[in-house]
Amino acid sequence: MISRLVSLRPAIYALTVAAGLAAASAVHAQQEPRLDVIYVPTPQEVVDRMLALAKVGPGDYMIDFGCGDGRMVVTAAKLGARGYGVDINPQRIKEANENAARAGVTDKVEFKIANLFEQDLSKADVMAMYLLPDINLRLRPKILDTMKPGTRIVSHAFDMGDWKPEVEEKVDGRNVYFWIVPAKVGGSWEVDGAQKMTLKLDQTFQFFTGKADIGGKSVEVTDGQLKGADISFKVDGKTFTGKVSGGSIAGDGWKATKA
Ligand SMILES: C[S@@+](CC[C@H](N)C(=O)[O-])C[C@H]1O[C@@H](n2cnc3c(N)ncnc32)[C@H](O)[C@@H]1O
Repeated sequence: MISRLVSLRPAIYALTVAAGLAAASAVHAQQEPRLDVIYVPTPQEVVDRMLALAKVGPGDYMIDFGCGDGRMVVTAAKLGARGYGVDINPQRIKEANENAARAGVTDKVEFKIANLFEQDLSKADVMAMYLLPDINLRLRPKILDTMKPGTRIVSHAFDMGDWKPEVEEKVDGRNVYFWIVPAKVGGSWEVDGAQKMTLKLDQTFQFFTGKADIGGKSVEVTDGQLKGADISFKVDGKTFTGKVSGGSIAGDGWKATKA
C-alpha cells in the first residue's frame, strides 16, 4: 500500500501543480484584462503636435478611448479643453488619475475603466487615437455615422484605410493623421435661389460627385468637397458654398432641401 502511494507521488505532485497554475491563471485573468492593443505610450512631442493639428482648446470635449496613462486627455485639459478617457486596464486608469492630479486638471477630466468598443462617440468635439489599423477600421463606421459633422480626429501611427486624411505628417519619425468628420450629403437635393436645380449626389467620405438637373438639362457636379458641415462644389463653372445642417443646406444666395 505504502509503495503504491510512493509510486503515485509524481502524479499527485503534477496534479497539484496543474491545479495551482489553473487557480493562479484564473486570478491573473481577473487582474489582467484582455487587451485589443498593448500599451505603448505616445511620446509627449507627438501628443503636442496631434492636439495642435486638431486645434484643441477651451470649449472642446476630447476623448481618447484606449487612453493609457491619460497623457492625451491631460494635455488637452492643460490647453483648456475637457476630456474623457477610457482604458480596459485598471492600472492605466490609476496612472491617468494620478497624472491628472499632478497636472492639476482633475476638474476637467474623467477616466473610466471600460471597453473602447462600448463607448458613445457622439458628444466629442475631438477624438485622439493610438490603436491599430484594424481597430481604426472597426471604429470607422461608428465615427462616420454617429459623430457630429466637424468632429476632429487625430491618430498616431495608423490611418483609416481609404478615408483620406486632411493632413498626414511625420513627427519625430512617427506618422500622425488628421481627419474631419464630414456631413452626409449623398442623395437628392432640391436647390432654390439664384439657381434652381435638382442635385443627385454620390458621396465617398469628404468627397462627392453627382449630376445637376437644370430645367431638364443634366450637368456634372464637380469638385464636391466637405470640411465637416462646410460644403463646396461646382456646377456649370459656378462655385457653390454653404453649410449643411441635417436635411438642409444654407448657401450664399441659395438653399437646398433633401428630397
Ligand atoms: C497603444 S496604447 C495608447 C495609449 C494612449 N492613448 C497614448 O497614446 O499614449 C493602447 C491602450 O489601449 C488600451 N486598450 C486595449 N484594448 C482596449 C479595449 N478593448 N478597451 C479600452 N482600452 C483598451 C490598452 O490598455 C492601452 O493602454
